[in-house]
Amino acid sequence: MSHQKLAPANPANAPSGRFFPHIGIEAGMRVLDVGCGNGDLSRVMASLVGLEGEVIGIDSSKEALALARAVQPTSKSAQVRYQIADLSSELPDLGQFDAIVGRRVLMYLPDAAATLTQLARLAKAGTILAFQEHSRADLPAGANDLPVHRQCYRMVWDTVTAEGGDTTLGYRLADLMRAAGFAIDHARSEGVLIQPWEESFLPTLARAMLPRMIEQGLTSEDEFDLDSLAQRVDDERRTAKGTIFWDLAFLVSGRFS
Ligand SMILES: C[S@@+](CC[C@H](N)C(=O)[O-])C[C@H]1O[C@@H](n2cnc3c(N)ncnc32)[C@H](O)[C@@H]1O
Repeated sequence: MSHQKLAPANPANAPSGRFFPHIGIEAGMRVLDVGCGNGDLSRVMASLVGLEGEVIGIDSSKEALALARAVQPTSKSAQVRYQIADLSSELPDLGQFDAIVGRRVLMYLPDAAATLTQLARLAKAGTILAFQEHSRADLPAGANDLPVHRQCYRMVWDTVTAEGGDTTLGYRLADLMRAAGFAIDHARSEGVLIQPWEESFLPTLARAMLPRMIEQGLTSEDEFDLDSLAQRVDDERRTAKGTIFWDLAFLVSGRFS
């Protein structure tokens, strides 16, 4: 038995769990998860479509796909097939899907509208398209000052900006999906919260993103001081005493018509 410590859950999973199971994805469907990363959302899809269904996760990062493949699906879930693919280039022939989903991926693409047009080619009448994208806002917020959390937030979003990502795509997500030929069924926005009883995912996020921050010239290892971050985050949460509004999610689903 493995005693490896699991990373704290991504708080973005909570809005996903309240959204994706309620947009018409059913047992037996064929689902594509674009920009699947470590497979968190692909596994939600695999449990929704069950053993009769099929899930394909695509991502441009070999490292992310290796992490995704390392997690076994549960016994009642569909197998997930992970495949390397670049959403900014021509996609491989993947066949047609009953649902195409993604989370925090369109915001990183240089031309999300072009990618959605490509994805529409994998759709048939009634195919569900659903995305959860996050947008930059004046966050994080809480009952007290949060300078450490705010520094992390600023660094994360400044990195996305420096890499050419679209930090306000969430606000236009429904319009982009409509322009690609999908009639919108559900569109909502939700705060991503970090609760006092949850282990903070910030050190994990910062560790994963620090090389990108450094590559963009936004900080250095010494300045960011990753080693002391977990302690500084914990100290701040103790004095903040309560819910932290960490991020802003937009969740939109539609059907190809
Ligand atoms: C913030 S992560 C989100 C991962 C996953 N969807 C989740 O929510 O846990 C963004 C993912 O998009 C992938 N990505 C970014 N640009 C891409 C592209 N052009 N083609 C395919 N994947 C891309 C990255 O490799 C990364 O895994």
